[in-house]
Amino acid sequence: MEPLGVAVLGTGSVSGEHIKAFRDNPHTEVRAILSRDRARAEARAAQYNLANCRPYTDLEQLLRQEDVSIVSICTPHALHVEQGVCCAAAGRHLVVEKPVALDLPGLRRLTDAVERAGVRSVVSFVLRWNPLFETIRAMLAQGLAGSLFYAEVDYLHGIGRDYTGHAWITTREGGGSSLLSAGCHAVDGLRWFAGQEAVEVFAYSNTSRGNPAGYQYHPNTVTLVKFANGLMGKVASSIECQMPYLFNILLAGDRGTIRNNQVFSRQWPGQTGWATVPTILPDSGAVEHHPFQAQMDHLVDCIRSGRESHCNLADAARTHEICLAADRSAETGQPVKLPLEG
Ligand SMILES: NC(=O)c1ccc[n+]([C@@H]2O[C@H](COP(=O)([O-])OP(=O)(O)OC[C@H]3O[C@@H](n4cnc5c(N)ncnc54)[C@H](OP(=O)(O)O)[C@@H]3O)[C@@H](O)[C@H]2O)c1
Repeated sequence: MEPLGVAVLGTGSVSGEHIKAFRDNPHTEVRAILSRDRARAEARAAQYNLANCRPYTDLEQLLRQEDVSIVSICTPHALHVEQGVCCAAAGRHLVVEKPVALDLPGLRRLTDAVERAGVRSVVSFVLRWNPLFETIRAMLAQGLAGSLFYAEVDYLHGIGRDYTGHAWITTREGGGSSLLSAGCHAVDGLRWFAGQEAVEVFAYSNTSRGNPAGYQYHPNTVTLVKFANGLMGKVASSIECQMPYLFNILLAGDRGTIRNNQVFSRQWPGQTGWATVPTILPDSGAVEHHPFQAQMDHLVDCIRSGRESHCNLADAARTHEICLAADRSAETGQPVKLPLEG
């Protein structure tokens, strides 16, 4: 079978991981890179030894290349909706980096465009393929925690002045909010472990007095989420914290508790303390550490077998709605019901 052609939009920090993952998948070939600067796209192709890759500076022109069937969107947040709508309308399958949109109208436009076009999509909630995430989902399915009543997932990652996207991510129009920019990984983890949908959200947000990274919006948010069956969730998100990267998971149920890679379960009658599972933790903000290969392999499998991804735009939109609701709650001081109207 002829390999599926891939185009990657953007030449920044995450684009290299997308390129490597598609280069190394046996069923895909990276055939186009979009940059504002043609020389930068050429240099990227050379860096990753892409023999059949053309540089572009214009998306419409790129979309005329017929042997490209997947587009990976690795540009700043604010470009994702416009680029995604164009690519979906041109019949391309999509990888969309998170956040896929910065407001509700944008989220609806992109989700509708993908649904209308009938293309496959995967949103880069890449931690769904992290080995600890996979282990926890298996433990939950085996009933080790029983029925969850409290779930906590936190994203504490100081994204400072050394980040390649500092100039745009710190602005309100470019970054959106703490949750949209990055804490959405924790919100998505909460949903993924809860296995059900949120019905109400309440949040507070602030900025530290020093604001060392110069954020124009509150880089810290704490969000409470009520789920349909009464499960209570909490997500702390800080993108200005001064500490090593920390992704925290605590899932408490009526038969046991999971705390990151530790578990205590009443299913194991003789257990007297936490059992530790050796695995790969989501303990780094470095893009090289994230399981992009597994994410892209999953998308390619979905396309080849005609399946929908569990992390497609329609599903990821639910995670985004929680983030948007939390931001609205932090602004108004009122709880916000889900799903959002509009
Ligand atoms: N899933 C994850 O874990 C993960 C990890 C990291 C990043 N991300 C997401 O991926 C997206 C890109 O992040 P990144 O870290 O790769 O950002 P970045 O290093 O700033 O790269 C963004 C690239 O987009 C292109 N671009 C086009 N228009 C631009 C503009 N007006 N201003 C700046 N750049 C522009 C640039 O390439 P040219 O200069 O060649 O045009 C730039 O290199 C973000 O939405 C981010 O949230 C996700």
